[in-house]
Formats: sequence, C-alpha cells, structure tokens
Amino acid sequence: MEKIKILAVYGSPRRKGNSAVLLKKAVEGARESGAQVEEIVLRDLKMSPCLEIFGCTKSGECKLKDDFQKARDQILASHGLILASPVFFYTVSAHTKILMDRFQSLWVKKYWIDKTPVNQPKVMRKGLFISVGATKGKKLFDGILLSMRYFFDTIDMKLWKALLYRGIDFEGDVLKFPAYLDEAYEAGREFAKTLASENSE
Ligand SMILES: Cc1cc2nc3c(=O)[nH]c(=O)nc-3n(C[C@H](O)[C@H](O)[C@H](O)COP(=O)(O)O)c2cc1C
Repeated sequence: MEKIKILAVYGSPRRKGNSAVLLKKAVEGARESGAQVEEIVLRDLKMSPCLEIFGCTKSGECKLKDDFQKARDQILASHGLILASPVFFYTVSAHTKILMDRFQSLWVKKYWIDKTPVNQPKVMRKGLFISVGATKGKKLFDGILLSMRYFFDTIDMKLWKALLYRGIDFEGDVLKFPAYLDEAYEAGREFAKTLASENSE
C-alpha cells in the first residue's frame, strides 16, 4: 500500500512557539508510525487574504494567484492534516485564517457549482488540530473549534481529535509540560495508524 500522506501546517507567526513545539512532536509521532509527512509554515508563504471578488464562482478556482494554490493542492492530496494555531482573540491566528478563507473557493465549488449534497464520502480524510492559549477560561476554545469544524467540512475532513492546552503564553512555556509533549507525540502516532488502517480497507 502507498504510504499515508500527512500534511503538517504551522499556523503561528512564532517559528518556535508553543503550538509549533507541539506540532513537531505530533509530526515525529506520525513519522514513527510510518507516515510520509510534509510540513508547511504559513508565515513563510505569500498569501493574500480573500478579497471577496467571487472570481471563483465560474470554476471554483481562486483567481488570486499566490502560494495558496500549492498549499491547497498539498492539503487536498493528503490523507490527514495536522494543523496547529494559537488562540488569537478567541479564534485562529491571522496566518491560519487567511488560508481558511481562501478555501471559500472550494466551498463555492462544492455547494454552488457542483451542488454537492451534504453527505459524507466513504473514507473521510481526517484532521488533528492543536491549539494553545494563555488564559484558562472554560470557553477559550469554543470559537476556534467552531471555525475548525466548518473548515474541515469544506475540505472533506473530519476533526479526528483536538489537543487544546490552556495557560500557555510565553515562547517555550509548553516545554514546562512534558505530559503535553508526550500527548502530542502519541496523538501523531495514533493519527497515522488510524489513517493507515482506514485507508487499507
Ligand atoms: C494577537 C494575539 C492575540 C491573542 N489572543 C488570545 C486570546 O484571545 N486568548 C488567550 O488565552 N490568549 C491569547 N493570546 C496568547 C497566545 O494564545 C499565547 O501566547 C500562545 O501560547 C501563543 O502560541 P504560539 O507560541 O504557538 O504562537 C494572544 C496572543 C496574541 C499575540
């Protein structure tokens, strides 16, 4: 069987920030389970925000040409996505939001052009989401999880698991919590194994 393909997307503006450290652990775990993992760092990409010109209504293709197309193709070619974003004002980082908004072109293709019924394909591709926030409130991840569910739906992915950590603020803070790092590693390992068993059937 071909190797399971996972794409890891770093959504924080901090290269070595808390979400990046956790994502790296998940990547290590997924590779340990035999997955082929590619990584993209959103802050390194040139990507315009959606300009709401709806050039996508004819073909579903976004008319803005930049690094979005490659990122989109990588995401759509993967069996699984591991996306990490910190909480910024109760939602994702701006870098992550730009990527998500550009997928509106796919939403338009699915629901306006192809008129896809809202049903599930047989093998759903899956997503693992990782997030951190500085505060500890009960509702800290409510907004980000809602955004993520609708985003994953647009890209035909099911949210497999979300790793959410409160009370983590300054760069390196997450290193004080080895249990979180272990959990991210294990989630990566388990994620790749789950994808492998589902895609071998
Ligand atoms: C622009 C901005 C907005 C933020 N908004 C929130 C917030 O709404 N709630 C919260 O708990 N932390 C908030 N934070 C703190 C970050 O979530 C926290 O520092 C996190 O550890 C950063 O993760 P990173 O190192 O992966 O970038 C914010 C930080 C920034 C820079």
